[in-house]
Amino acid sequence: MKHTFSLLVIAAASLGASAAVPATSEPALKDVFGDKFRVAVAINDAQAKEIDKEGAAIVKHHFNTVVAENVMKCSEIHPEKNRYHWDDADAFVEFAERNGMTVIGHCLIWHSQLAPWFLYDDEGKYVSADTLKARMRDHIHAVVGRYKGRVKGWDVVNEAIVESGKYRNSGFYKILGEEFIPLAFQYAHEADPEAELYYNDYGMNVPGRRDGVVRMVQDLKRRGLRIDAVGMQAHMGMDYPDFREFEDALNAFAATGCKVMITEWDMSALPTFSRSSNVGDVAAYQKALNPYPDALPEDVSAHWNSRMDAFFSLFLRHSDVINRVTAWGVTDGNSWKNGFPVRGRHDYPLLFDRNYEMKPFLKNLVNYHKHK
Ligand code: G3I
Repeated sequence: MKHTFSLLVIAAASLGASAAVPATSEPALKDVFGDKFRVAVAINDAQAKEIDKEGAAIVKHHFNTVVAENVMKCSEIHPEKNRYHWDDADAFVEFAERNGMTVIGHCLIWHSQLAPWFLYDDEGKYVSADTLKARMRDHIHAVVGRYKGRVKGWDVVNEAIVESGKYRNSGFYKILGEEFIPLAFQYAHEADPEAELYYNDYGMNVPGRRDGVVRMVQDLKRRGLRIDAVGMQAHMGMDYPDFREFEDALNAFAATGCKVMITEWDMSALPTFSRSSNVGDVAAYQKALNPYPDALPEDVSAHWNSRMDAFFSLFLRHSDVINRVTAWGVTDGNSWKNGFPVRGRHDYPLLFDRNYEMKPFLKNLVNYHKHK
């Protein structure tokens, strides 16, 4: 009954039946759902520095946990072999601490947004295995060590398993084989023994990748290494992932004994052009791929809200194993999906719209749950 009710309410709201309400006037998501899981959001530099005042206001009102969308990534925080750039990451952590929020670190070892020097010697050739181990250890110890006791947990390794379940043939893998993953977890634990440690990936509903990640998690545990949770990025579209497949994967990760986190939730409202979240897979702009430059048609908005309602309700049902739900950005205008997989598009993938207003599905869920 509730779901049917949701659909009716969502449809009405999508038709603009509800008056515009500033997001900071709505009941706080962290108050309504905070007893189920951490209510988290990825924030950009302008929000952390409160340059985007409206975005920062939504973050402070609705969320109890934040993750840095970019400023803690290797290419941003360690741009040259002997130079770190701490200012933006420091500002992010200080924003969170100033506002009593939990801080999540993203991400230590990733093939993308990797500093260009990281894998190469002065001649441009891959460094030796020992050199790469030393560079990984130095990077992880410097970054995790700097925020020791201030960051709740780290995405230690990001996107290392492909859809077949095999290891991604990244530079890390080419030089160190699968050993780069346990080494990364070991170095992170050395640097902050209290920090939670996570593996994070996209397309985790795909059975091949799901089983490969389970195998990798079990291997880390067999080695006696700390891994607290598996991050399902949950970058979605209007026709993927399959709901049951997603739930099967969620259950498979929970069966390893790890917690599960929804780490980068968004849902493109545009026709699916690519299911990849591998940022290298970008296509050139085509007008046909940007069908809703001004606003979503009401039927598309109602369908989007209904799918979001179904997945959020799934997260709530599994809150015994899901301990964080993270939106990958504050408002639709902030989303990476406006530029991926096709640059220059207008997408509508997040919890708040370009007018900083909460999406109908979420208003409906808040109203349903706020008195429970
Ligand atoms: O910082 C530079 C700036 O100096 C420059 O002027 C500007 C214009 O080129 O680019 C800025 O860097 C951009 C960066 O975001 C910060 O805004 C990069 O070009 C852009 O590629 C980068 O995109 C990020 C993307 O990761 C790149 O991999 C997105 O914001 C971010 O949302 C996205 O997040 C990843 C997760 O970390 C891992 N999972 C997949 C997810 C989507 O790719």
